[in-house]
Amino acid sequence: MIRLGTSDLEVSPLCLGGTVLGWTADEQRSTAVLDAYTEAGGNFLDTADMYSSWVPGHSGGESEETIGRWMQLRGNRDGLVVATKVGKMPGLQGTSSSVTARAVEDSLRRLRTDRIDLYYVHFDDTAVPVEETLSGLDTLVRQGKVRYVGASNFTADRLAESLAASDRNGWVRYVAVQQEYNLLHRTEFESGMASVLAEHGLSNVPHTALAKGFLTGKYRPGLTVDSHRAADNESRLDARGLAVLAALDRIADAHRTTVAAVALAWLAAQPSTASPIASARRVEQLADLLPVAELRLTGTELESLSAAGSVPAR
Ligand SMILES: NC(=O)c1ccc[n+]([C@@H]2O[C@H](COP(=O)([O-])OP(=O)(O)OC[C@H]3O[C@@H](n4cnc5c(N)ncnc54)[C@H](OP(=O)(O)O)[C@@H]3O)[C@@H](O)[C@H]2O)c1
Repeated sequence: MIRLGTSDLEVSPLCLGGTVLGWTADEQRSTAVLDAYTEAGGNFLDTADMYSSWVPGHSGGESEETIGRWMQLRGNRDGLVVATKVGKMPGLQGTSSSVTARAVEDSLRRLRTDRIDLYYVHFDDTAVPVEETLSGLDTLVRQGKVRYVGASNFTADRLAESLAASDRNGWVRYVAVQQEYNLLHRTEFESGMASVLAEHGLSNVPHTALAKGFLTGKYRPGLTVDSHRAADNESRLDARGLAVLAALDRIADAHRTTVAAVALAWLAAQPSTASPIASARRVEQLADLLPVAELRLTGTELESLSAAGSVPAR
């Protein structure tokens, strides 16, 4: 287990992403994936109130509801670390204190629980003063509805500003961030956020850890992939994408493991990472990700992956 940032939450080495639950994974498949994940020792679930509002006919909340039904069915809430997010739900957007006060009640109801372990603001809402966002979150923690708070998709400067505002006012402080970070998407995170996290002892729980499936190795030149994510991924087969796949293939062969597990292990080895977040819409997909828990890459392997990820795209 891994200590999450400045909290006392202990999380497993893979965080299960919730976007697919109630979207590309129906109820039966979602239940099977959640069961397989916990049977393998996983305890860290990531969702958001707005998942999967982008699907025609969905209104948001489908992922939280799926998790809520499953936790009630299995009676396992106390053994889990449940993270959700506020700010992007259609009709309930932003991070003003009135929005977070309403949104938390909705999330608690859908999740069928009385507390959220980690409540992220889904984006940095610059239309709301930092102080208002934080005082609203502070109230939720004092009320016992939320245990810890986190920030997602922030810049380093705005994170530092928020931490300073918490300290000045004696309010709850962000314990972790959730930023996009993977072998193909590094500059934004490494150019400033990483040092602010190190300075304050915060963790990153990197999202889109598999680059929406590209880092599983299933996208190859000349192949057509049947996936809702295919349109985002075919353009990644450029010089950098191919260099990363070649390095992943070589290292996965050497360890007799999967390409996806190697991509996640690289991320897990980065200094601020707590647990990478990845989603799986079937149990067979999840099985390819789980070896990250035991996989340790050598320094040379980590360097060669980093070098491949630094190749110019074209
Ligand atoms: N904070 C934020 O703003 C934010 C943004 C994005 C994501 N997130 C979080 O991060 C999580 C992960 O991101 P993500 O779900 O977008 O993408 P991801 O984890 O980078 O990629 C997962 C996708 O890859 C495919 N896949 C997984 N395992 C596979 C395998 N073994 N073989 C072949 N394909 C496989 C599946 O898609 P297909 O089978 O459909 O191809 C799966 O849904 C989300 O669920 C969410 O919790 C947060």
